[in-house]
Amino acid sequence: MLPMDTSTEDQIAAAPHAVTGEAESSATAAASLLRPEQHCAFVIFGASGDLTSRKLIPALYNLACQNLLPRGFAVIGFAVTEMDDESFRNHLREWVMNSPEVIVFRTDIWENFEPLLHYITADFEKPEGFKKLGKRLEEMDKDHQCGGNRLYYTATLPAFYNAIVENLGKYGLVRHASKTEDEWARIIIEKPFGQDLTTARQLNESIHEVFHEEEIYRIDHYLGKETVQNIIAFRFANSIMEPIWNRYYIDHVQITAAESLGVEHRGKYYENAGTLRDMFQNHLFQLVALVAMEPPVRNDSQSVRDHKADVMKAILPIDPENLGDVAVRGQYGPGTMMGAAVPGYRQEADVAPNSATETYAALKLMIDNWRWADVPFYLRSGKRLPKKLTEIVVQFKRIPHMFFQASTQDHIEPNQLTIRVQPDEGISLKLGAKLPGPGMNISQVQMNFSYSQAYGTLPATAYETLLLDAMHGDPTLFNRSDAVELAWQVLEPLLDTWSATRNYTNFPNYPAGTWGPPAADALMTRDGRAWKNG
Ligand code: BG6
Repeated sequence: MLPMDTSTEDQIAAAPHAVTGEAESSATAAASLLRPEQHCAFVIFGASGDLTSRKLIPALYNLACQNLLPRGFAVIGFAVTEMDDESFRNHLREWVMNSPEVIVFRTDIWENFEPLLHYITADFEKPEGFKKLGKRLEEMDKDHQCGGNRLYYTATLPAFYNAIVENLGKYGLVRHASKTEDEWARIIIEKPFGQDLTTARQLNESIHEVFHEEEIYRIDHYLGKETVQNIIAFRFANSIMEPIWNRYYIDHVQITAAESLGVEHRGKYYENAGTLRDMFQNHLFQLVALVAMEPPVRNDSQSVRDHKADVMKAILPIDPENLGDVAVRGQYGPGTMMGAAVPGYRQEADVAPNSATETYAALKLMIDNWRWADVPFYLRSGKRLPKKLTEIVVQFKRIPHMFFQASTQDHIEPNQLTIRVQPDEGISLKLGAKLPGPGMNISQVQMNFSYSQAYGTLPATAYETLLLDAMHGDPTLFNRSDAVELAWQVLEPLLDTWSATRNYTNFPNYPAGTWGPPAADALMTRDGRAWKNG
């Protein structure tokens, strides 16, 4: 163990706990179990951008509040925007004070956290910045006892990922001559990881020239969400689930990630992305993998990630000749959200007036294995839908025989399990029950588990969980190179066909504030099913 840095120790002593007395000491003991033993410097490329101020720094601040930062720790922001340590700290203080991810802003915690923040103004593509970074890192090892360990984070535009990784290698910031066996360097790569299969492969290859696979942490913030991790717990910590979690009992699965917001100020990025790249290749496919995977033998990164990759391998290739049967694309036009008029996608900043980028997509996937043969997985995601809602609906089969007397009050709907990823995090199960009174009439009732009622606390934000895991060196919740490529491979026929037919789309095809284009409903009704809208 390296010597303690007194400033971080003071901060630790001042850390607040939401509980008191006996509960407090056990919470503190539990927290210290999770506090990374190894010290490190955290370098954020693109530190003047949105992701840093909205997510990364609030997450680090929250970790500081819970005593979960390593004892020796420092942050170096690296970006082209002119700033010095002081202006960087002031800028971040404002963000943290107003961040919805921070429950309480505590001046005493901030005052101990702030001196850990440093900044270098530099270009990602030029050598000077990396030479400066090397020197600053050595200073951090002395001033903050970072122990020679490095955690890099690419919070930049994806176009810079290659240059950053190459320069880290070239300027000895990954495997420098004096590096000891115990010292580590890891890199967290933000999404999107590539634009398609070819670029994802190229990116994997170029990162592998500098970092070993086990040092690469491809982040997908959905995997850090408590409710997403709970899919594994729900499936494999309950013996009643596994026997029915298959094609014999399940009719179909629906996964919805609906957003009420439009593209906001991200038009430039979104024009080159669209919903398939922005939400499907990563977040929605992760949800599919967790719902559909076989039980892993151990809760370790290899078993879990092997089984998730198997799901991607089993998805039947999408037939480009019959896309209309399985995929729908949409783009929002002007409409009304909560009583206020909102512009269409083509009227948003940095969006082409004749843009053919999809802001909505729906897709029917089939998983070709013993467990899931003939069980469709319907996925949809879109911007400017009526509400923010991410949920997984598992629709069970109808009862095989109806012996209740028919009456107008009979509603024997199939059982339905809903995993509410967000908001109102929880799980509910719809059941048929006898309606009180004479006769045997059946009504639908719901059993409900709600995180806020059960635990009374807000779960840690996704970035807190994932940053902490990366500091611990646990890649379970990060994507492996093969899984990323497999996900691109599934989408490839769709991406190719949609981009080759950009001129033929009839966009906009759904008004803001509605549940997407009518063709998405038709996709379900053709199969005798319907979307569940929360
Ligand atoms: C991001 C996408 O990865 O996920 C955004 O780039 C999207 O477009 C966001 O809004 C959704 O995340 P969450 O956690 O709000 O569901």
